[in-house]
Amino acid sequence: MRVAGKVALVSGGAHGMGAAMAKLLASEGAKVVIGDLLESEGADVVKAIEEKGGAARFHRLDVRAEDDWRAIVAATIADFGRLDILVNNAGISGSAVEDFYDTPAWEALMSINATGVFLGMKYGIAAMKRAGGGAIVNISSISGVVGQDFIHMGYNASKGAVRLMTKSAAAQHGRDNIRVNSVHPGLMPPMRTSGRTADPQRRAEMLSRVPLGRSGRAEEVAHAVLFLASDDASYITGAELHVDGGYLAT
Ligand SMILES: NC(=O)c1ccc[n+]([C@@H]2O[C@H](COP(=O)([O-])OP(=O)(O)OC[C@H]3O[C@@H](n4cnc5c(N)ncnc54)[C@H](O)[C@@H]3O)[C@@H](O)[C@H]2O)c1
Repeated sequence: MRVAGKVALVSGGAHGMGAAMAKLLASEGAKVVIGDLLESEGADVVKAIEEKGGAARFHRLDVRAEDDWRAIVAATIADFGRLDILVNNAGISGSAVEDFYDTPAWEALMSINATGVFLGMKYGIAAMKRAGGGAIVNISSISGVVGQDFIHMGYNASKGAVRLMTKSAAAQHGRDNIRVNSVHPGLMPPMRTSGRTADPQRRAEMLSRVPLGRSGRAEEVAHAVLFLASDDASYITGAELHVDGGYLAT
C-alpha cells in the first residue's frame, strides 16, 4: 500500500486516464475524490472502487470555475478530513479543431488545460499548507515539450503552461513541504475530445516515431502518477516524467 491513509483528489477522474489513476490510488490505500463534469461516469468509478473495498466520492467539478474548486476542496476535507494528493488531470484535446487559428478553441484549451490547473493548485495548495504538506501531480503531455503539426497550438501552449507552472509551484512551495511534478503521456488511447489523434492512419504514423513501438496504456500513466504522489518520490519536486515509450528521446 503505497499511499495508505492519504486523501487524493483527481480532476477528470470519471473517464480515461483519470479513472485509471483514481482506481490505482484507491487500490494503494488512498481515499479518493473524483471531480469531473461527467456525473454518471464518475459514479461508476466510485462504485468500482467501493466494490474493491476502497473509499471514494464524486463531486461535480468544472475546472474552469473558481467556485467549483473552492467547493470540491472543502468537500474533500468534509468527506475525508484532509487533502494530501492532488492530480490535475482534466483536459481537452486540440486535435479535433480544423482551423488552427480558431480563437474560441484557443480560449477553451487555455481555460480548461491551463487555468484549470492553476485554479486546482490555488485551492489545493492552500489546503495542503494548512495540513503541513502534500504532493501534486499535473498532467501535461509530450505536447507540452515539443510542437506538433497536427494540433491547435493552444494544446501545446496549455500543456507547456502546465509544465512550467509545475516548476513555479515546486520552487514556491518546497518550504511548505509540498512537492509538485508533471507527467507527460505520449501516444495513449484517444481522449473523448480527440479528432485527428484518434484516426488510425495518424496513430500509425505517430507510432512509427515511438521507440517502444506501441501506444501506452492508461495504467502505465497511472503508475507514474502513483510514484510521484507517494512518499517513494519524497525528494523529487519540479521534475517532469515522460511516459511516452521514448517519443521525446528521439
Ligand atoms: N489520451 C492521450 O493521448 C493523452 C496524451 C497526453 C496527455 N493527455 C492528457 O491526459 C489527461 C487525461 O486525458 P484522457 O486521455 O484520459 O482524456 P479523456 O477525455 O478520456 O478524459 C478527460 C477527462 O477530463 C474531464 N474534463 C474535461 N473538461 C473538464 C472540465 N472543464 N472540468 C472537469 N473535468 C473536465 C472529462 O470529462 C474526462 O473525464 C488530459 O489532461 C490530457 O490532455 C492525454
